[in-house]
Amino acid sequence: MKKILVWSLYTRVFHLLAMVLMLGVYLSSDEDRRLSIHASLGYAIGVLFLGRIVWGFLDIPYSKFKDFSFKIADLKTYMLSVFGAKKSYIGHNPASSYAIVGMMVLLFLSIVTGALAYGAQEGMGIASFLNHTWFAKMKLFKEVHEFFANALMFLIFAHIAGALLDRLLHSKLILRSMVDGYKEGEGQSVQLSLFQKAFGVLWLGATVVALIYLLASPNALLLADNNPKVDYAKVHPAFAKECGSCHMLYPPFLLPKTSWDEMMASLDNHFGDDASLETATMQSIKAFLDDNSAEHATKEAAVYMLSRLKNDTMPKSITQTSFWKKRHHGIEKVASSDPKIGKISNCKACHPMIEQGSINDRDIKG
Ligand code: HEC
Ligand code: HEC
Repeated sequence: MKKILVWSLYTRVFHLLAMVLMLGVYLSSDEDRRLSIHASLGYAIGVLFLGRIVWGFLDIPYSKFKDFSFKIADLKTYMLSVFGAKKSYIGHNPASSYAIVGMMVLLFLSIVTGALAYGAQEGMGIASFLNHTWFAKMKLFKEVHEFFANALMFLIFAHIAGALLDRLLHSKLILRSMVDGYKEGEGQSVQLSLFQKAFGVLWLGATVVALIYLLASPNALLLADNNPKVDYAKVHPAFAKECGSCHMLYPPFLLPKTSWDEMMASLDNHFGDDASLETATMQSIKAFLDDNSAEHATKEAAVYMLSRLKNDTMPKSITQTSFWKKRHHGIEKVASSDPKIGKISNCKACHPMIEQGSINDRDIKG
């Protein structure tokens, strides 16, 4: 048996980039603050895999889709012989052929549903219009995205487990071939044409450029924040003046109507302070709060807060809602130890645009 070059430099760099970007997108998935990094990485992986699809149609031995083995009978034999003397494949074996196509399908489904969820839930990016129409279903959008993303991760773990098992039970070369490109067997080595090399450079370069561009351009079409900023001093001067005199201005969408009504009915004892107003001013502010309460908002904070409300107890303050507590686990310590924040109700220390009615994940400090 001789050593043959199976994976060209471009295929190996693709594989390495795919590993690094996938790890990044996975690690950035569970924190709101990293959402725009998560989205940028997701789109960059999209560029990478679009290029890989084109690569699969170029006449490159082992990498082209024509050289994948998709025969179900072969897959069966292959899986049954994993622990025994299995047939060795120079290019992709039936299991990895199916895994790769499965990963591609799940990846594109994850990207599309991710973009839709980003629009519906956050009002961000290319599908931000969904936040005006489908906001009530934002949770569903997010869950569908998570379903595809988890399925993708499952397939990736299976693929890694398969490769490690192979390494343990069979040849050491197969895993190493993703680094140096060589396998042992009968066949010809890969040789790329000038055109194929040029495409390879363009393809991998475009992925890196796309990633850098997205990370550096928060206003790019795919990531832009399309939530309107509200100037409350213009929209309702009395609300901005009276309710912003002792503390920061809390946007009306952060509490349900009943909570605002109760608060406005007891301004003479407002968290221990007397915040009473003339009846006409009070009624005008109350009407404004009611018209813009959580029930009328398309914001993530409003939709999730309402969905977690228990009917019998209406929150007396924002920081008492279970939604707020869940998102701010452990924040009390951070707030009290930092003199710039002081107390947890000083939202604007961590959400700089909140007085303009915007709680953009990527602005979050603290
Ligand atoms: C006289 C001072 C004063 C005025 C005027 C005032 N507040 Fe307050 N407000 C407070 C204090 C004190 C607290 C409790 C401490 C804190 O959270 O900052 C509070 C808390 C709140 C909270 C709860 C924040 C949380 O922790 O969840 C909301 C909401 C609120 N105020 C809304 C209003 C609105 C609406 C108005 C206008 C009608 C208003 N406030 C006017 C003093 C005031
Ligand atoms: C000490 C910093 C800090 C303070 C103070 C703070 N937050 Fe947050 N907030 C955060 C962090 C960090 C997150 C993100 C948590 C995560 O990644 O899941 C967050 C998340 C949120 C979210 C969910 C994200 C979204 O897009 O809807 C809302 C809503 C929110 N905060 C509202 C508030 C409000 C209202 C206040 C004031 C009553 C407040 N926060 C005070 C740090 C803070």
